[in-house]
Amino acid sequence: MMQLRLEIRGVAGFLSKISPAALAFALFISTGVIARAQTATDPGVRGVNWCPTCTNGAGGFVPGLNDNQAALESPMTNFIEEVNNVAGGTSIKHVGLGGVFDSNSCTGCHDYPSPGGSSLLTNPLFTVYQLFGDQNVMPFFETSLGPTVVARFPFQSDLTTPDGHVHQLFTITGRSDAGTCSIQQPDFNGASAENNLILRQTTPFFGGGLMEIIPDSSIIANMSANLTQKMALGISGNANINQDDGSVNRFGWKAQKRSLVLFSGEAYAVEEGIDNEFFPNKINESPGCTPPFPDGPPNGKGTNGVPDDRTDWAVLPALGYLMPGDPERFGMFGRFLAAPVPSTTLNGSIGCPGGDLSSCENGATQFATVGCVLCHTSFVGGYTGFTTPPSSVSALGNTQVDLFSDLLVHHMGYCDADNISQGQALGDEFRSAPLWGIGQRGFFMHDGRTTNIVTAIEMHADGYQSTGCTGVGSYPASEADAVIAAFNALDSGDQQDLVNFLRSL
Ligand code: HEC
Ligand code: HEC
Repeated sequence: MMQLRLEIRGVAGFLSKISPAALAFALFISTGVIARAQTATDPGVRGVNWCPTCTNGAGGFVPGLNDNQAALESPMTNFIEEVNNVAGGTSIKHVGLGGVFDSNSCTGCHDYPSPGGSSLLTNPLFTVYQLFGDQNVMPFFETSLGPTVVARFPFQSDLTTPDGHVHQLFTITGRSDAGTCSIQQPDFNGASAENNLILRQTTPFFGGGLMEIIPDSSIIANMSANLTQKMALGISGNANINQDDGSVNRFGWKAQKRSLVLFSGEAYAVEEGIDNEFFPNKINESPGCTPPFPDGPPNGKGTNGVPDDRTDWAVLPALGYLMPGDPERFGMFGRFLAAPVPSTTLNGSIGCPGGDLSSCENGATQFATVGCVLCHTSFVGGYTGFTTPPSSVSALGNTQVDLFSDLLVHHMGYCDADNISQGQALGDEFRSAPLWGIGQRGFFMHDGRTTNIVTAIEMHADGYQSTGCTGVGSYPASEADAVIAAFNALDSGDQQDLVNFLRSL
């Protein structure tokens, strides 16, 4: 049983941190009056729409690794970029794509602004879906300039029984390397998909190794920190506790997974249809749809670490490929990925949109003052963020992790809900999205519903309904309502500074 430590601050300490506007708006919300005064504009993607000469601040391995650890960067990056075909002769690599799939490599989705990141600004699925004669139709929700998203059905076809799983976009039917496989692609564009389709865009995993080792106890302690302020603003939040060992899950839009290696094993099975140590069978076992050659136990792609019937694995040690298998390699890649670095750190004042460093500095202060920091945990404004414990990889240990997330899930209201429960996260609950690196993102919110970071902020609130609400049934009010009202109540200069600050991350 974990102990919750409640830290109740004195009224004076509380008032000094929360602006009167936030308090006033908290009251307005309870009477149903929400003022809308959004004035800021989004400067756009860092390094693309502004400061094209700015140094990219995401990707590559953490600084301070020893030579052996650093030597993994190139081979592990190759693995994360590996493109898989269905079959390819007896090659140990590049095979095993399953009968149903979303893409053919990890970087098919996680590649912006560098491997391990989020959706590219131009959707790469258009280069994948009809490869080698493949007969797929592109679902309507994938657009060439939109985010790379995957599809889940909240309910089964009776529209009542929960489903929630990923439904792969594509099949290999018709591909020249797919043998006799003839699985039919789901009709995403047809009537059956109506009212039963939600999308999830690709989350980046920069800084993944740091996130992974934040102690559970730190997450729980942070949940109880600044409690008076949180309560006044209607913020609570829950840890998505792992059902196996009781620890705090933290990866994915609903904080549904505990570790990078677990996520990688699942992604390999779910996104590429490749069975592996974690998921030993193909997700679609239709006859004729597994590669037509013995390529690894039990019936899919050998993930290189497994001494299967192939004759070529004996040479693998010489290539440095023997152990471990692919999911561990992907996990290792993520573990060593560096945290995103703010543009102002790398580029000075030109690293702040508009070229005025004080704008980003004031923006960080406003981020704390209006209460964004109460979910998006950070060191800004005198608050305390997360720090890693000592680690056997010293480059990861004793490090401040300024990820701008409490790693908890929060009720985000009827309009943001996707009606899918994962672990203890309910249909309207999402992980406070880590905001480090957000300046270099093209698409926002779990389904990538906007390219505009100001709109993304407004979309936290129940008052924002212009995109159509997705919730089914009744959900409580968004926990972010009062904070977004406080953001809207900022004067236009402070509001713009906050947005500039976000785009510098
Ligand atoms: C078709 C696109 C796609 C492909 C291919 C893909 N992913 Fe993902 N990835 C996603 C999406 C979407 C999410 C968010 C999932 C969710 O929470 O529902 C995600 C989330 C993740 C996360 C969690 C990061 C976080 O903090 O939330 C990790 C780690 C990850 N993927 C690793 C991988 C690896 C490793 C591969 C290759 C084996 C891979 N992914 C292939 C789309 C993809
Ligand atoms: C109650 C907790 C909470 C508060 C308060 C909050 N956020 Fe969020 N934020 C979230 C959650 C949860 C998400 C993910 C929602 C989703 O994906 O549907 C999110 C997503 C975001 C995103 C998009 C991230 C992405 O990866 O697409 C941005 C930008 C953001 N928040 C900025 C802010 C700012 C700025 C404030 C203050 C004005 C703020 N948030 C206040 C919980 C919060």
